[in-house]
Amino acid sequence: RDLYGTARPNSRGVELGHHASLTALRTEIARAGAVSAVAAPIIDGKAQDGPSRQLASPSDPGVVAGTAVEADVATADRAVAAAAAGFATWCLASAAQRAKALRRAADLIEARRARLIHLLAVEAGKTIDDAIAEIREAVDFCRYYAAEGEALFGAELRLPGPTGESNALRLRPRGVFVAISPWNFPLAIFIGQIAAALMAGNTVVAKPAEQTPLIAAETVRVLHESGVPDSALQLVPGDGAIGARLVNHPAIASVVFTGSYDTARAINIALANRPGAILPLIAETGGINAMLADSTALAEQVTDDVVTSAFRSAGQRCSALRLLCLQDDVADDIIAMIVGAARELRIGDPRDVSIHLGPVIDHEAKARLDEHIARMKASTRVHYAGTAPDVGHFVAPHVFELQQPADLGQEVFGPVLHVVRYRADDLDATLQAIAASGYGLTFGLHSRISQLVDTVAGLPIGNIYVNRNMIGAVVGVQPFGGCGLSGTGPKAGGPHYLARFATEQTLTINT
Ligand code: SER
Repeated sequence: RDLYGTARPNSRGVELGHHASLTALRTEIARAGAVSAVAAPIIDGKAQDGPSRQLASPSDPGVVAGTAVEADVATADRAVAAAAAGFATWCLASAAQRAKALRRAADLIEARRARLIHLLAVEAGKTIDDAIAEIREAVDFCRYYAAEGEALFGAELRLPGPTGESNALRLRPRGVFVAISPWNFPLAIFIGQIAAALMAGNTVVAKPAEQTPLIAAETVRVLHESGVPDSALQLVPGDGAIGARLVNHPAIASVVFTGSYDTARAINIALANRPGAILPLIAETGGINAMLADSTALAEQVTDDVVTSAFRSAGQRCSALRLLCLQDDVADDIIAMIVGAARELRIGDPRDVSIHLGPVIDHEAKARLDEHIARMKASTRVHYAGTAPDVGHFVAPHVFELQQPADLGQEVFGPVLHVVRYRADDLDATLQAIAASGYGLTFGLHSRISQLVDTVAGLPIGNIYVNRNMIGAVVGVQPFGGCGLSGTGPKAGGPHYLARFATEQTLTINT
């Protein structure tokens, strides 16, 4: 059975259909992967020299994904200066010109899907299925922000006034945006941030995650080829120290960030401490995401949606399910079905299309998860402990049972599901315990009681999914992002996102 279902049909161009097209796609991916991948800082369109390192694939340390040159502090500073100079021309481009470049980038991404699938698999450990979904999301971000941006920035808003007075509200670009993106969506989130900032007329210094510079460099080349001027987009691969240098640079106007709460907080403090300016931050962070299933839920549907939400992408989505709250009278049956389904999951080389779970991103991620699993094994009831290949950074799916939601403690970024039971008369306390984490990203509800939808919709949580899985938000369909510790908003892929990348000016003229 195809555990993850078929691909979403919301974009054209990338289809994983019958056997013949699958074989053709695999051949295409193998051919595209034969060309070696290189990432380096790109300043004004030129790749910069420097000491290089080889990037090992997370699924096999013996496989080299490519070669990367990281930026040093001087290169980061030059990137900001180049973006500041580029702002003078890009801010004058019309909304239609900016949108045209983004649409061309979407077309090129579709045309180069085989190369991108290869990189997503070898550099980020994505399964083919996840890689295809991510390409689709990247394409959707470009086309959606192009369309939204043309409407929003294409004309100023005329406002009423007394005779002889004209009033207009104008949206103006802010300046240089620093875009810092994570390794778990190294194409979609990377290009989503950049596309939004560019569409609003800003220039961008992009710092991809340390683990995924190859996909980032490929994407920047696509954007430059698509009509984004070299001076409007600079690439600065590097570690956290380079990110800190960028966010503290006096010439930047704003930061868009996706990653951990701790880093978002540090960036917010750095921006708040900037003398002579109040700089905004757009941040999306993580969550301790829960799903609640009561005794009216359909057990088979709960099982399928739990397995997808907790284990797809090896649990490395900020939307992924971490805490499943089951009403006590159905808990044993549903846990048994989840464990049965988890046993069917195949874990291994993500380039094999029959694989459901690839590796986690790196040695540190695996070590953190192994430590958490050991602690859970010693202190909780173990329902399922899967096995994983020894070579590569693989972590098997696990299912543990906790006494109460608070026992989870921290965000766990991998294929580990924690179950708690609740009694019907404890429902409010259970919901309060979930909200008490302070995070508010995703929440799942499985129930046929419609009043319960109103109750959970009152929780401070950004994305709520009822009677379905809770991952894979679609651009323009499920705008994505949380509240509380999970982020500042506005939601990516939603109608309010682009406006935050601009400043507003009211122009009143007494004619
Ligand atoms: N946007 C992704 C999802 O919805 C999470 O990062 O799964």
